[in-house]
Amino acid sequence: MAEDNQMVPLPPLKLNPRNDEEFAAVKPQQEKSSKCLVYLLAGIVILSAIFLVFALVVMRPRTPHLELSLVSVKNLVYTNNNASFPSFNMTLEAEFSIENPNFGMFKFENSTANVLYGGTTVGKAIIGKGLVRARGKEKIKVKVDVRSYRLSDTEKLSKDINSGILKLNSLAKFSGKVKFWQIVKKRRTASINCSMSLNLTSHAFELQDLICS
Ligand SMILES: *[C@@H]1O[C@H](CO)[C@@H](O)[C@H](O)[C@H]1NC(C)=O
Ligand SMILES: *[C@@H]1O[C@H](CO)[C@@H](O)[C@H](O)[C@H]1NC(C)=O
Ligand SMILES: *[C@@H]1O[C@H](CO)[C@@H](O)[C@H](O)[C@H]1NC(C)=O
Ligand SMILES: *[C@@H]1O[C@H](CO)[C@@H](O)[C@H](O)[C@H]1NC(C)=O
Ligand SMILES: *[C@@H]1O[C@H](CO)[C@@H](O)[C@H](O)[C@H]1NC(C)=O
Repeated sequence: MAEDNQMVPLPPLKLNPRNDEEFAAVKPQQEKSSKCLVYLLAGIVILSAIFLVFALVVMRPRTPHLELSLVSVKNLVYTNNNASFPSFNMTLEAEFSIENPNFGMFKFENSTANVLYGGTTVGKAIIGKGLVRARGKEKIKVKVDVRSYRLSDTEKLSKDINSGILKLNSLAKFSGKVKFWQIVKKRRTASINCSMSLNLTSHAFELQDLICS
């Protein structure tokens, strides 16, 4: 097509500004291919940049979000008379909700839930291992047997039982790895610390004032 244009006789005395451009377009083959190479390289650079941004945004490991969605008391017994040591026994049934915001799965292991009274561990549960799908949510049910016999401060315990309120803390920790297609693995730990009051005077032995952080 360009060849044809060259053949067309120019109208005399009329300077056509488009002519120059047309000639420029018919520059030697070599320049054309080097231009191609520049475009190709630019394309590769732009694609790499896009991929890098994608990798940084999508594969950024975030800590899964942990919540205590339910907790209840079962089988509560307690004594507080001068005939025996003050003590309490119960089973805490809890349901944790763990949400994985990552585009890769979260695989946890050696996870635990502990119940503390006055800073002393009075119950322990091994949750073990499991996984939460990419951008998924899992509910995990945990039963913790709580026994007060480890407590040495019976005076405080006696006072608390008499007041009708037992202040408990529940700590849970899910430790594991966020995995992006088996390529990138990053360790993340989701943990929660909840405080609650067990009301001994209410008939249902309600847990009140549940505050988690
Ligand atoms: C709590 O359980 C322990 C052992 O399981 C038992 O020895 C204790 O008597 C129980 N306490 C009460 C108040 O039932
Ligand atoms: C236990 O005995 C002491 C002294 O005898 C008394 O002051 C206290 O009120 C008693 N406690 C209970 C829970 O009965
Ligand atoms: C989990 O616990 C077991 C036994 O306590 C230990 O052998 C293993 O190394 C632990 N795994 C991690 C990832 O901490
Ligand atoms: C949990 O929170 C309580 C306050 O509610 C605090 O006294 C305690 O130190 C915390 N424990 C951990 C392990 O963060
Ligand atoms: C415990 O529960 C009883 C009955 O539900 C209620 O009257 C009382 O105020 C509660 N105690 C506290 C400290 O909230």
